[in-house]
Amino acid sequence: MPLPKIIAHRGASGHAPENTLAAFAKAAELGAKCVEFDCMLAGDGTLMIHHDESLRRITGAELMVSEATVSKIKALDAGSWYDAEFCHEKVPTFLDTMDILVALGIGANIEIKPAQGQDVATGQAVADQVEKRWPRHLPAPVISSFSEEALKASQERIPQIEHALLWEEIPADWEDRLHGLGATAVHVDSDHLSREQFNALRDSGFPVRVYTVNDPERGRELLDWGVESLITDYPDRF
Ligand code: G3P
Ligand code: MG
Repeated sequence: MPLPKIIAHRGASGHAPENTLAAFAKAAELGAKCVEFDCMLAGDGTLMIHHDESLRRITGAELMVSEATVSKIKALDAGSWYDAEFCHEKVPTFLDTMDILVALGIGANIEIKPAQGQDVATGQAVADQVEKRWPRHLPAPVISSFSEEALKASQERIPQIEHALLWEEIPADWEDRLHGLGATAVHVDSDHLSREQFNALRDSGFPVRVYTVNDPERGRELLDWGVESLITDYPDRF
């Protein structure tokens, strides 16, 4: 099943603090049917939704996600950095996020974002959660990662779920790498994707989704090429 054309990047992160429940709710309010978010393992093995290895940028705490417990992370304010009105936002767990997706009735692109050295463990943790907990009535998620190791660890556990390899640029050996991993789609930085590269990927049968597209004109052009989805901070622009 193709993903929706518009995927809200870290939730509607142009309108609310990234990777928070407020950003996911805002995405749904703006009409998005799918959100992208980043999954990282906390020190106690809890799967958290957070982009950076450090909690500093989002919460001000000089703490690494991989060294903190869920209770310590949940005590932090993950919204004030964006705007005081979001001061009650927390770094959500994967389970918190599934609950809100169920309430909102929207799907997800789950990005595995391993802390250094945690590629396999993070990929396996995401796959386990998806297998055990993903609500049957939601559209199946698409799992993606820049880490080939993490993607492979997840893909081996739940091959029935779509796995997309993330790239900043399409490498010369893209076809071998995709086939080698069993990846079924490509997520790529829109700034580094040429029409020729897109055509070659499409002709080989790989859906292409692009991040982070915030310019409506560029978005229209990419959709005209045949890109399946735009991953954007501003779902309301499209
Ligand atoms: O999944 C698309 C995009 O989120 C990848 O880059 O750094 O925003 O996680 P990043
Ligand atoms: Mg991401």
